[in-house]
Amino acid sequence: MTDPADVIVFGGTGDLAMRKLLPALYLRDLDGQLDGDARIVAVSRSGLDDADYRDKVDSELRRTAPRWTGADALDDDRHAAFLRRLHHVTLDVADDDWSGLTDVLGPADHRIRVLYLASAPSLFGRICTGAAAHGIVDERTRVVLEKPLGTDLASAQAINDEVGSVFAEDQIYRIDHYLGKETVQNLLVLRFGNSLFEPLWNAGQIDHVQITVAESLGVGNRADYYDGSGALRDMVQNHLLQLLCLVAMEPPARIDGEGVRDEKLKVLQSLKPLTGPDVVRDTVRGQYTEGLVDGEAVPGYATELAESRAGTPREKDASSTETFVALRAEVANWRWAGVPFYLRTGKRLARHASEIVVQFKPVPHSIFPAFGEQIPPNRLVLRLQPDEGVRLHMTAKAPGPGGIRPHPAPLDLSFARTFGDRLPDAYERLLMDVLRGNPTLFMRRDEIEAAWRWAEPVLRTWEETNQLPRPYSAGGHGPSASARLIERDGRAWHEDYQDVG
Ligand code: BG6
Repeated sequence: MTDPADVIVFGGTGDLAMRKLLPALYLRDLDGQLDGDARIVAVSRSGLDDADYRDKVDSELRRTAPRWTGADALDDDRHAAFLRRLHHVTLDVADDDWSGLTDVLGPADHRIRVLYLASAPSLFGRICTGAAAHGIVDERTRVVLEKPLGTDLASAQAINDEVGSVFAEDQIYRIDHYLGKETVQNLLVLRFGNSLFEPLWNAGQIDHVQITVAESLGVGNRADYYDGSGALRDMVQNHLLQLLCLVAMEPPARIDGEGVRDEKLKVLQSLKPLTGPDVVRDTVRGQYTEGLVDGEAVPGYATELAESRAGTPREKDASSTETFVALRAEVANWRWAGVPFYLRTGKRLARHASEIVVQFKPVPHSIFPAFGEQIPPNRLVLRLQPDEGVRLHMTAKAPGPGGIRPHPAPLDLSFARTFGDRLPDAYERLLMDVLRGNPTLFMRRDEIEAAWRWAEPVLRTWEETNQLPRPYSAGGHGPSASARLIERDGRAWHEDYQDVG
């Protein structure tokens, strides 16, 4: 059970609130995790009243609930009780009059307040200073920041400064929803809850690491926003680097906010800078063109962008934004010296599938001469989605009397099959952590800024050297240069994710 709280969602009618935050709070409430007095106060400029807002959320829950086991609760008392927690306040945060919000909130008394900023980052500073000026903030108040936190180091610092002028660092929860995913947290347990892996977890035994976050969806109606961002800012600077940190970090002394984040920060600080010619050699940018995804014809990025800008002067502008990135990174420290980390992410790829692959070194000497060259090295594959789980690729003897024939054979752990339960959405876990005051799975200011310090030279070099994205057909595996990037080192992307599901 959480502390009694008011969760105040700025951007309360927006896409994130409707698709993720409200359903997550609802599901936690069905499980009896929200304090009886907890309220959810949505803030937007929409002009809705409480009844309108409850109707809106109700229909969203009914639309999406069949995906959850909570579907059968739709008409019982718990559903009605959740809707009664909801309030809506119409407010333009640029206005001086915040009385609509302060009236609904009343005195904080025993409640903590959580300000969830699901609005444009350009408003973060204004919301925080406005909330402070109108007496909504005290030392128990927590603020949650959604990405994107800046578009480069300077803009990230500016946001952090503005928010930091109102809130102490331990009141600030910067969300990276990848850290709320079950498999991502399981990486911590896998590494530090088993004695098996840690002795092998270093450059002596590991050949390389691959991190793939592949999406089959395009940018759709987010094209206009996305065009100012691109895959490096949207995915690599945050989600993929966070995954890399969890793979590469030293064992923290404690599983708490400072313990884990101190170790992640050291990894970010150890990343070998990618600058100048290294960027040209070790990064690949791509942009999807039309193609077939799951047998269905889909338009290219340029078409989606033009559609989202239809009727504006920018409709016909060409775009050099990347929807795909592959790169080779290195963590320059004792544990990982010489071990490449290959990262790739893209939209409109063959399928929606994300995984971390840790590839061990090959056997040092084969005693099976007929298969000597072919014994595949062990691979540990952590599947983030779909079908979350862990697969250890081993070599076993193929059954049969005709001699010893080594054959690849996986040890497979499917979370759904093993644990049976519905796996909670990342936002369920993360929202509960905010309400319980646990910052372990949120990013600290120094982490965000260290990640930008590494990503910024890549962006700058792309621009300075005019490294344009290479076209790739929707429904494939990205530009062929991505395969060459890893093949150059005598390695290959693990494409097993195609068979999962
Ligand atoms: C978001 C990005 O942070 O993560 C989106 O802005 C991306 O572009 C999304 O689609 C992917 O999240 P998930 O959980 O679907 O893998």
